[in-house]
Amino acid sequence: MKPVRWGIVGTGRMACVLAREITAMQPDAAVLEAVASRQMPTARAFSQQYGAARCFDDFRALAKDPGIDALYIATPHTAHRECMLEAAAAGKAVLCEKPFTINAVEAQSVIQAAQRGGAFLMEAMWSRFLPAIAEVRSLVASGAIGQVQMMVGGGAFIPDRGADHYLLNRALGGGVLLDAGVYLLSLTSMLLGPPTRIQATGRIGPTGVDEQDAILLEHAGGATALLYVSLHARRSPDLEILGDAGRLRIGAPVFKPTRLTLWDKDGAESVRDFPIQGSGYGYQLLEVHEALRAGRRESPIMPLRETLSIMHTMDTIRRQIGLTYPGE
Ligand SMILES: NC(=O)c1ccc[n+]([C@@H]2O[C@H](COP(=O)([O-])OP(=O)(O)OC[C@H]3O[C@@H](n4cnc5c(N)ncnc54)[C@H](OP(=O)(O)O)[C@@H]3O)[C@@H](O)[C@H]2O)c1
Repeated sequence: MKPVRWGIVGTGRMACVLAREITAMQPDAAVLEAVASRQMPTARAFSQQYGAARCFDDFRALAKDPGIDALYIATPHTAHRECMLEAAAAGKAVLCEKPFTINAVEAQSVIQAAQRGGAFLMEAMWSRFLPAIAEVRSLVASGAIGQVQMMVGGGAFIPDRGADHYLLNRALGGGVLLDAGVYLLSLTSMLLGPPTRIQATGRIGPTGVDEQDAILLEHAGGATALLYVSLHARRSPDLEILGDAGRLRIGAPVFKPTRLTLWDKDGAESVRDFPIQGSGYGYQLLEVHEALRAGRRESPIMPLRETLSIMHTMDTIRRQIGLTYPGE
């Protein structure tokens, strides 16, 4: 079996996590071939640390490298689009961090470019590939809680990063919606599809990004979702799915759950644990590898139409809470 030859764009926190996951894989499954940073010394240090053969000080050079099959993009949100366009032009497969882009217009342009180039493209919504979330899909599809009527969840954390970090930096697409809210919206989208009505309220902080949002979604068939995210309190995020014949709780943290609690129609409770291998970020890599070997251009578990629809939902929420990004 020929290994998937990965190139990583960025040398920050997520780039390190995924570099460790790739290098921990069997050498016939995946190899970390190259890295791109904005500065050569950083790229060189990263490539030495993780054993990548080549390094670049420009993501364009990495995208054009004929020795790369797939790019993992781990730069701030605002940098995703340009990098994905470059990869699409070079016909390279892409796994791009969440949020996929800043808005739906950007997402649409990237998806069209990848489709023109015929290359695989996927949002790195890693939670969808974890064992617990796979079980959520299976339980709901099998009718274990009946018809889903409501989804209720959220979480809060107080950031330990400064105003220059992308989380609070408007120029880099900051704000809690795109950073954390996207996980909750992805889960509601996975089970209920795109919302038919969206109502949101939010608080914009001193750096010009949203620091707290409350979101109400309506879906075809009448199901609703009540979601919140905040940077002003502390609560590890969880989510409950209420059906007309039972209830399912995805334990905290909802983006990396290991425990599901199911209540049947009589209220009987069962708790099951779903251990995660490694950091948990490796499952999405396996999905990419399988897709590439099968010649697929997208993942049936994280399809591009859903990535686009989630971006549309976030655009609507941002319009309602009064958050725009530079250039919009
Ligand atoms: N899936 C998850 O669980 C998860 C968790 C956290 C973050 N993320 C996502 O992953 C992406 C990266 O997050 P991170 O936490 O890894 O960020 P980070 O630690 O700040 O690293 C981002 C890297 O991007 C590069 N970069 C390129 N343009 C940049 C710019 N204008 N400003 C700053 N850095 C720039 C930098 O590498 P060079 O200096 O080498 O160019 C930097 O090290 C974000 O989109 C974020 O939403 C996902």
